[in-house]
Amino acid sequence: MEAISTVQKHWDQVYTNKVLEESSWYQPKPDTALDFILNAGLSKDAAIIDMGGGDSLLVDHLLDLGYTNLCVLDISAKALEKAQKRLGAQANAVNWIVADAANFKTTQQYDFWHDRAAFHFLTNDADILHYVQTAGTAIKPGGHLMIGTFSEQGPQKCSGLEIRQYSAQSLSEVFASHFQKIKCFTLDHYTPTQAVQNFTFCVFRRKD
Ligand SMILES: C[S@@+](CC[C@H](N)C(=O)[O-])C[C@H]1O[C@@H](n2cnc3c(N)ncnc32)[C@H](O)[C@@H]1O
Repeated sequence: MEAISTVQKHWDQVYTNKVLEESSWYQPKPDTALDFILNAGLSKDAAIIDMGGGDSLLVDHLLDLGYTNLCVLDISAKALEKAQKRLGAQANAVNWIVADAANFKTTQQYDFWHDRAAFHFLTNDADILHYVQTAGTAIKPGGHLMIGTFSEQGPQKCSGLEIRQYSAQSLSEVFASHFQKIKCFTLDHYTPTQAVQNFTFCVFRRKD
């Protein structure tokens, strides 16, 4: 990435000032993603990316389960440093990418792309289109995309920033050019202060 953007500064500051367990998005065990990955029958060397993964514990759980081809991308270098520090030597087995999802480009191919509460920060149409096209080419044909955003019943802001809310229908429409819907559902997330955040989750398969 070139110059540090305002968004990157925001997130670096968040990760400098907050401990993981006090963040509204904290999950000791990201069961939604883990359940799907385990039931999808992905091989242990399947290429898995956590977009906007921050210092989420998803990567720790996947390493513990024996997955070997893992990537975590985030706009905040601070977030990834925290995750790396926590994992110690295990961090060397993960590919860490500091990038803005709004302009991220890659030649890598992924079997499974996970995004919980990062895509919803993209609020302008050009950034959203870029994200959809990148996922639509970087995920292998037949590969999976699992995406979670605040629902239309959820909060309008996340970490003090505007977000875009999605219903199952609007999320499916945004990704329809490259992806076929497998399933969508809503889910209440309880923050560490017991506030309820309603999410829309969709799982898609990349079209051939
Ligand atoms: C609400 S947190 C969720 C973190 C993690 N996905 C989880 O579920 O625990 C949002 C994350 O998205 C990252 N993020 C926000 N905007 C981004 C962007 N444009 N590109 C990449 N990452 C972004 C933030 O740095 C932060 O780590």
